[in-house]
Amino acid sequence: MKTYLITGGAGFIGANMVLYLLRKYTDIRIINLDALTYAGNMENLQQAEGDGRHVFVHGDVGDKALVARLLREHDPDCVIHFAAESHVDRSIADPMIFVDTNVRGTVNLLQCCKEAWYDPAQRSWRPGKKYIQVSTDEVYGALGPEGYFTETTPLNPHSPYSASKAAADHYVMAFHDTYGMSVNITRCSNNYGPRQAPEKLIPLMIHNAQTHQPLPVYGDGLQVRDWLYVEDHCKAIDLVATAGRSGEIYNVGGHNERTNLFIVETIIDQVGRRLHDSEINEGLIRHVADRPGHDRRYGIDSAKIRADLGWYPETAFEDGIVKTIDWYLDNPQWVRHATSGAYQDYYANMYENRR
Ligand code: NAD
Ligand code: TYD
Repeated sequence: MKTYLITGGAGFIGANMVLYLLRKYTDIRIINLDALTYAGNMENLQQAEGDGRHVFVHGDVGDKALVARLLREHDPDCVIHFAAESHVDRSIADPMIFVDTNVRGTVNLLQCCKEAWYDPAQRSWRPGKKYIQVSTDEVYGALGPEGYFTETTPLNPHSPYSASKAAADHYVMAFHDTYGMSVNITRCSNNYGPRQAPEKLIPLMIHNAQTHQPLPVYGDGLQVRDWLYVEDHCKAIDLVATAGRSGEIYNVGGHNERTNLFIVETIIDQVGRRLHDSEINEGLIRHVADRPGHDRRYGIDSAKIRADLGWYPETAFEDGIVKTIDWYLDNPQWVRHATSGAYQDYYANMYENRR
């Protein structure tokens, strides 16, 4: 029986990870700590309802007493840290919460793990304990038209979001290098798939296309992202949890670089076909003011995780995007809840005055 403490497990990737682990392993216990911010959604965990192997705890990763209690009571073998403020546009509008959650929250979690797992009298770590930091390719900065990020590419973040994730990564490696803590960092490219909050590019465009609203493309739309299907990412983290070598960083990429315009055009085509709706067409595209400091291109070299752990992205984009669109079209209640209330205020603030 293996016990995991997963943080941020009501969010997009965290919830997909919880469901993936529950499907894959019978002998497992998951403690899921999530603060349920705007991005946390209990409906993401519907499939885990009534499953005694999953315990949901509503709370903040920065709460030392709470995290220490969870580590004491449940004694997890592995901590997988997803919880974060994750949206670049929000970080531009309000960077402080990114410092609180992504930096301070991470250091709190590391320190609590150290206190639970390290015996200063014996100067030894309890065997079998591991901490995994789920990071991002955005810590490397931006690429020109050529080249890829490898694990040794120097960190050069540009947005307040990526700066906070880079700071957190440095702390993780500091706990490894200074105290000998068993850690891994995964740095993945842009994920897509079911259960992503609808302010991110792909779910936003699916929702706007379906409802005949303008599709806001930042700048020229020729920025490039390397899209990774979320379940492939979950498989990578599972492999790192079971077989990753302590202290190693693993890049996880989709081998699937696309411009934002290509993504939007694909969504228009697929949503239009599925709904037999000719009003969903390229006339909905609006080029709006660009994001300040917008990274032009991300591209991941994931040769290391392939060579060391045998991972590769199994889902072709053409299949993944269809599965993703089908999921949003098949879950209208989830979409309705996720796009009502606070989302409407967010959308008005972010887009109404954007040229
Ligand atoms: P998300 O925004 O969908 O979910 C984040 C989750 O963390 C939410 O459930 C939220 O309630 C929770 N949370 C936020 N602050 C918290 C706090 N203080 N304490 C406890 N819980 C808190 O994010 P996501 O897209 O699922 O990303 C998960 C992780 O993967 C993040 O660390 C992100 O930086 C990283 N990542 C994401 C992507 C991507 O494409 N989505 C790409 C690379 C890396
Ligand atoms: P996003 O999903 O926010 O991920 P990230 O900024 O972490 O890569 O955005 C993906 C790309 O899509 C990014 O280049 C910004 C662009 N974008 C738009 O053009 N319009 C939008 O409305 C959004 C949300 C993003």
